[in-house]
Amino acid sequence: IRAAAKKALSDCADSKVLETLRVQYLGKKGELTGILKQMGKLSAEERPAMGQLANQVRADIETALADKQKKLAEAMLAHKLEAETLDITLPGKKQKVGSMHPLTIVENEIREIFLGMGFSVADGPEVEYDYYNFEALNLPSDHPARDTQDTFYITDNILLRTQTSSVQVHVMENQKPPIRVISPGRVYRSDAVDATHSPLFHQIEGLVVDKGITMADLKGTLELLMQRLYGDDCKIRLRPHHFPFTEPSAEVDVMCFQCHGKGCRMCKGEGYIELLGAGMVHPKVLEGCGIDSSVYSGFAFGLGLERIAMRRYNIGDMRLLYENDYRFLEQF
Ligand code: PHE
Repeated sequence: IRAAAKKALSDCADSKVLETLRVQYLGKKGELTGILKQMGKLSAEERPAMGQLANQVRADIETALADKQKKLAEAMLAHKLEAETLDITLPGKKQKVGSMHPLTIVENEIREIFLGMGFSVADGPEVEYDYYNFEALNLPSDHPARDTQDTFYITDNILLRTQTSSVQVHVMENQKPPIRVISPGRVYRSDAVDATHSPLFHQIEGLVVDKGITMADLKGTLELLMQRLYGDDCKIRLRPHHFPFTEPSAEVDVMCFQCHGKGCRMCKGEGYIELLGAGMVHPKVLEGCGIDSSVYSGFAFGLGLERIAMRRYNIGDMRLLYENDYRFLEQF
């Protein structure tokens, strides 16, 4: 058995064959085990000698097997090293890292600025009840101002929100003053796509409700925001306007950063550029949400993220923000 095993092992050139040999010679049903099983039939004198011999054979085969295993492993490694040459002088493969979308960059920046002023972030649904988008914001169903926001209706009373002002109502229903929140998100209006319009765009709503809040707080907050975004010398200007859910209401212009208020082609000689809507929360809106308007007052504003990002990065066409063209996105 020993001789046969050694011959077979030395002829073997493959680890699978080696395993078969192991089973054949040393396994439970192997030849050697067969002999050991018959030991009982031997006489008491023969048994020790035979046992010793069998164990010796077993040990020899085991050693030879281990030897062969080692040799095969070495041969395999050598073969591998030969086959897979690695040229460490070749330049490495560059891993492409993505970049943040300009809208995300600007949104994150604005979030940070407001978090620094003690605001928290509120979220609201994009598929909304008419009540939150219009009714509770002092826009009853016959209100003419509804026509100015071309709404995507899903059913009679469910729609895609046209403004993040809807979140104001959710917040005031669920939270007692003092309230200080912003709410960024997508809004929808059925506008045709062009350089300045898109049926989907982004707004950031702001809402502050507390005792003694005035228009001066509104102006101070927005001025700080714009100075953080556009530089410390940035000024804002409030013009009277009308929104059903604020009274008084204002349109907020920001100083043109091209000419710093002097007037240039970019701002059409105005020195200022219209940027957002704002105002003091209408008492009717407060009351509708269960907030006592004789005790509390508040301000709200809504700004368009696209407009801010486009000014910031001098992007002339809004469509660039949605087309996901690599050549555009790589620049941020
Ligand atoms: N929701 C208004 C709009 O989309 C903006 C706005 C928000 C105005 C809050 C006043 C107060 O045009």
